[in-house]
Amino acid sequence: MLYLVVCGAGPAADVTVLVSAAKERGWQPCVIATPSATRFINLEELARQTGRPVRSEHREPDEPRGSLPRADAVIVAPASFNTINKWAHGIADTYALDILAESVSYGVPIVAVPFVNTNLSNRTPFKESVARLRDEGVTVIFGPGQWESHPPGTGSERAAAFPWRLALDLATNGGTFTPSSG
Ligand SMILES: Cc1cc2nc3c(=O)[nH]c(=O)nc-3n(C[C@H](O)[C@H](O)[C@H](O)COP(=O)(O)O)c2cc1C
Repeated sequence: MLYLVVCGAGPAADVTVLVSAAKERGWQPCVIATPSATRFINLEELARQTGRPVRSEHREPDEPRGSLPRADAVIVAPASFNTINKWAHGIADTYALDILAESVSYGVPIVAVPFVNTNLSNRTPFKESVARLRDEGVTVIFGPGQWESHPPGTGSERAAAFPWRLALDLATNGGTFTPSSG
């Protein structure tokens, strides 16, 4: 079971690419979107592709528990500035952040791929958040030779190069970079 957590950032609509690739590798993917991300993605298409509704909200307190099986790996892609910072600091005010908050403690591979411009990546809170998440065992694909921020206003061109397959490779091999995964 692979949780794909999608945030409200440029390449979110292309998460279909990741879903297809994950299914080819034998994963059962399930998409969890932040409320912002629901404006970027095609909920019906993803539900059809994964066989499960996209989750973006908590259940009502009087509703029975949902039947989402425990994840064997988690990919957060694209990870927004907002969600990276909140996740790293223990804020859980979306369903996606609640899932991420707990996932860190389960010890499953977690791979995050931020999609931010240089105005955001240069900010101290972002740098600290990436470092904090790495300290807790999250594989954050970010930095020279991995995946980098883009100049402001160039996100649309950059989105096509988003490293969906690298994220899947790393989640599949336990979050560890190997020479082949770059
Ligand atoms: C069209 C559009 C594109 C955006 N692209 C990005 C982006 O690439 N990276 C980012 O961090 N935020 C981006 N944002 C801002 C986030 O959507 C916003 O910070 C939101 O609060 C993120 O919420 P989330 O982290 O819960 O998904 C974009 C917003 C819009 C409307």
